[in-house]
Amino acid sequence: MLAKHLLALALPVLAAAISVVETKGNAFFYKDTGERFYMRGLAYQPGGPLNLYDPLADPTVCLRDIEYFKDLGINTIRVYSIDNTASHDECMLALADAGIYLVLDTNTPLASIARDSGANCLYNTMYLNEVFATVKLMSQYNNTLGFFAANEVINDDSTTAAAAQVKAVVRDIKNFQRNTGLRTIPVGYSAADVELNRVQLAHYFNCGDDEMARVDMYGFNDYSWCGRLTYQRLGYADKVAMFSNYSIPLFFSEYGCNEVSPRVFTEVEAIYLEAMTSTFSGGLAYEYTEEDNEYGLVVVLANGNITVKPDYNNLRLQFANVSNPTGDGNYSSSLPPSNCPALSSHWNATNDIPSTPLGALKYVKGDAEPSGTGFDAITQWACIDAANLVDDLTSLGDGSNSNSSSSNTGSGSGSGSSLSSSNDAMEMKASRALWVILAVAILM
Ligand SMILES: *[C@@H]1O[C@H](CO)[C@@H](O)[C@H](O)[C@H]1NC(C)=O
Ligand SMILES: *[C@@H]1O[C@H](CO)[C@@H](O)[C@H](O)[C@H]1NC(C)=O
Ligand SMILES: *[C@@H]1O[C@H](CO)[C@@H](O)[C@H](O)[C@H]1NC(C)=O
Ligand SMILES: *[C@@H]1O[C@H](CO)[C@@H](O)[C@H](O)[C@H]1NC(C)=O
Ligand SMILES: *[C@@H]1O[C@H](CO)[C@@H](O)[C@H](O)[C@H]1NC(C)=O
Ligand SMILES: *[C@@H]1O[C@H](CO)[C@@H](O)[C@H](O)[C@H]1NC(C)=O
Ligand SMILES: *[C@@H]1O[C@H](CO)[C@@H](O)[C@H](O)[C@H]1NC(C)=O
Repeated sequence: MLAKHLLALALPVLAAAISVVETKGNAFFYKDTGERFYMRGLAYQPGGPLNLYDPLADPTVCLRDIEYFKDLGINTIRVYSIDNTASHDECMLALADAGIYLVLDTNTPLASIARDSGANCLYNTMYLNEVFATVKLMSQYNNTLGFFAANEVINDDSTTAAAAQVKAVVRDIKNFQRNTGLRTIPVGYSAADVELNRVQLAHYFNCGDDEMARVDMYGFNDYSWCGRLTYQRLGYADKVAMFSNYSIPLFFSEYGCNEVSPRVFTEVEAIYLEAMTSTFSGGLAYEYTEEDNEYGLVVVLANGNITVKPDYNNLRLQFANVSNPTGDGNYSSSLPPSNCPALSSHWNATNDIPSTPLGALKYVKGDAEPSGTGFDAITQWACIDAANLVDDLTSLGDGSNSNSSSSNTGSGSGSGSSLSSSNDAMEMKASRALWVILAVAILM
C-alpha cells in the first residue's frame, strides 16, 4: 500500500500528458488524435536576444508568464536561446500542462553560425557539441515541437553562401537524432524576409537528394502586415501562391509589424483562413516582453510584475475570435521536395555542403555524449582556436572516427590554412564578436 501510495504521489509530476506533434506532408498533426495542429504562438525571450538568459530554466518567471500565455490562448512559444546545462523540467512540464509546445533555436548569440562564413572554418566540433547537447536535453519533452538549426543567417544576397553551412547543421542534427535514438523532432530554419531571394532560400532548404540535409519545417519572419489590411490586398495571397508547391510545413516564425501602434493583429484572421492553411500552418507573434525594439505585448516591471499593453488585449481578442479551419485545412500530403535553385546574382549556395567536422563524428554516431557548456560557449570563431583544432585533428588520426567517403575539404577543421597566426586570430575574434552582436541587434 505504501509503495502504491508513493507511486501515486510521484506520478502527477511526470504525467503532463501532451500529445507529440508530428509533420505529415506540408502540415503538423497531433500524433494521438490525428487532428491537424495550427501554431498559435508567441516569441518568448525576456531581456531580448543578446541577454544570455534562459526563461525556461527560471520557474519564477516561466510560471508567472504561463498564466498570461493561457489567457492569450496560445499553444506554442518560441525561445531563442537556452542554457543547455540547466534543468528545464519545471517550466516544460508546466507548459505541457497548459497545452503549450516549444519551438527552440539551437544556438545562442555566442554559439552560432556567422553569416560571413565564406571561410568554412566556422563550422567546428565545439559548436556542434553545444547544438547536440541542446537537442538531446530538450528532446526528452513531448511538448518540444521543433528545433531551428539557425535564424536569419542569410539576410541579403551577399550572404547566401552561408546557407550551405546551415544545411550541414541540419544534416548533422538529423543524423545525431537518428543514430542516438532520440525522438525525431522536426528540424527547421527561420528565414529573414528578404525579397531578393525569399523563394530560392526556401526551396534550397527543401532540395537535394540527401533527405538528412533537407529541413523538416520552414519558418518566415514576416513583418509585412501593418495595421488593418486584408488577405488579398496585403500579399499573403501571393505568398500562398508562391509556396503552394512546398512539400513541408511552413509557418510565420515571427510576425507582428509595429509600424501602426497599438497593433490590432488583424493578420490573425487571414492566417487561419483555409486559403492560407492549405500552405501555411499558423505562426508566432513577436514577442511577449517589451524590449528596446518595442514589439512587446507586456511590460515587465522592476518588481517582476507584469502590465499588459493594448497590443496584448488585441491579440487575445483575435485569437478568441478566430477559429481553425475544420477538417484537415486542405493540406497537401505528398508534394515532392523542391528543386534546387539555380545560381544567380541573388543566389550563391550550391548543394555541395560542408562535411561533418571529424571531431564531431563521435557525437553523430553516438560513440560519445555531447556535453554543453551553456552560456559560456563561444564558438563562432572556434575554428581558429587551437584546442578545437587538436580535437578535430586527433579524430583524423583515429580510424574508428574517420569517414572514408568524406574528403573533409569542406569542414575546414582539419585544414592547415586554419592555423593562421595567433595575433590575427585574436584580432579576428574581437572584431567578429562585435560584428555578430551588432548584426543580431539590428535583426531582432
Ligand atoms: C510522450 O509521448 C509518448 C507517445 O508519443 C508516450 O508514450 C509517453 O508516455 C509520453 N511521455 C509523457 C511524459 O507524457
Ligand atoms: C486547396 O489546396 C489546393 C492546392 O494547394 C488549392 O488549389 C485550392 O484552392 C485549395 N482550396 C481552398 C478552399 O483553399
Ligand atoms: C504584484 O502582483 C501581485 C500579484 O498580482 C500583487 O499582489 C502585488 O500587489 C503586485 N505588486 C505591485 C507593487 O504592484
Ligand atoms: C471576428 O471575426 C469575424 C470573421 O470571422 C470578423 O468579421 C469580425 O470583425 C471579428 N471580430 C473582431 C472583434 O475582430
Ligand atoms: C515550385 O515552385 C517554384 C516557383 O515558385 C519553382 O521554382 C520550383 O521549381 C517548384 N518546385 C517543384 C518541385 O515543382
Ligand atoms: C560565391 O561563393 C564562392 C565560394 O563559396 C565565392 O568564391 C564567390 O566569391 C561567391 N560569389 C559571390 C558573388 O558572392
Ligand atoms: C560518411 O560520409 C558519407 C557520405 O558523405 C555519409 O553518407 C555517411 O553518413 C557519413 N558517415 C557518418 C558516420 O556520418
